[in-house]
Amino acid sequence: MQQVITTTHTIDSESFIQSFLNPHQPLLIKAYAPASTSKKQLQSVVSLFGSHPMQVKIPYIEQLQAQSSLEQNPEVMSLEDFIVRLEQSPSCRQCMVEEPTPASVLEQIGIPDLTWGRGVGELVSNTFVAGKGNHAQLHFDCDQRHVLLMQLFGRKRVFLIHPKDSPKLLPVLNQSWWMLQNMALDCKRHLLSSCEYWEVELEPGDMIYIPMMFWHHIDYLDTGVSVNFRFGNRPENTFISEHLHRDSFIQRLSLFLDSTDDDLARQAIMTALKERLSESYSSAFEAYSCIRQRASELCQLYCEDWSGEQFVLDYEESMVRGTPALMRIIQGFYQGRVE
Ligand SMILES: [Fe+2]
Repeated sequence: MQQVITTTHTIDSESFIQSFLNPHQPLLIKAYAPASTSKKQLQSVVSLFGSHPMQVKIPYIEQLQAQSSLEQNPEVMSLEDFIVRLEQSPSCRQCMVEEPTPASVLEQIGIPDLTWGRGVGELVSNTFVAGKGNHAQLHFDCDQRHVLLMQLFGRKRVFLIHPKDSPKLLPVLNQSWWMLQNMALDCKRHLLSSCEYWEVELEPGDMIYIPMMFWHHIDYLDTGVSVNFRFGNRPENTFISEHLHRDSFIQRLSLFLDSTDDDLARQAIMTALKERLSESYSSAFEAYSCIRQRASELCQLYCEDWSGEQFVLDYEESMVRGTPALMRIIQGFYQGRVE
């Protein structure tokens, strides 16, 4: 069922942590940064980035579906040159994704003080640029951080889905095999109505809080430029993001680890995962399969609203086994642990 996102124009750090960050509640902050949709605004955003070189790629879900490698030889160009390309070729599929935000840009736009409260983990900022009609495939992020996404130019439609609904989304690693980008808006809403979801239209200057591990799908309603701030990852989740593959079981455990005050439960989960990680395996796929089996058992033990079912295990493992690009991701994590 669709949820109404809380919307505000201003919020202090303490209220943000208590009412949104700790309970994992999305929040929309309207007009956080001064902006307009005018051409002048685009020019000022472009000038922020100057001639800083940034990578341009095709969306990686398209490579996954083509069953090719995820490796790309990206073009490198300035934001200004990429915007010119998008204006000249409106159907251009390329995008700038997860490009590190230049320090000079961060200095000018400022890092939101809402990121300071947790005091753990390292803050990371990325920049995203793509043309009207482009999208970000339904996925959850792999670094276990909370996210503030600031829209600098253009509008985006953002769908957020609570991790408890992962089993409904045909999850394959951190991607959903629901191809929302191929559906009309009504169709998207109909499909998502069985989930706890939020739909938000971000306008230039708006900033949205995306709780860690939440699924998100993004449609570019205009050519868009945005910057995110990623923060607040707890030490257990930093370990998980650095050593384990991502799937809906790991996602759900990470959410639990972020929210619980039960130290014994945290220790038990980490000990169980590390034990599985330290074993020897005959293949990377076996390591992946054994670790996720253990993670699914831990979900049943510790996550109250867990509704994961065997079909998620079976479906996902068959997809990974049959898709070379996915198998290479798993090998990247576990090949070193094979006897
Ligand atoms: Fe993302």
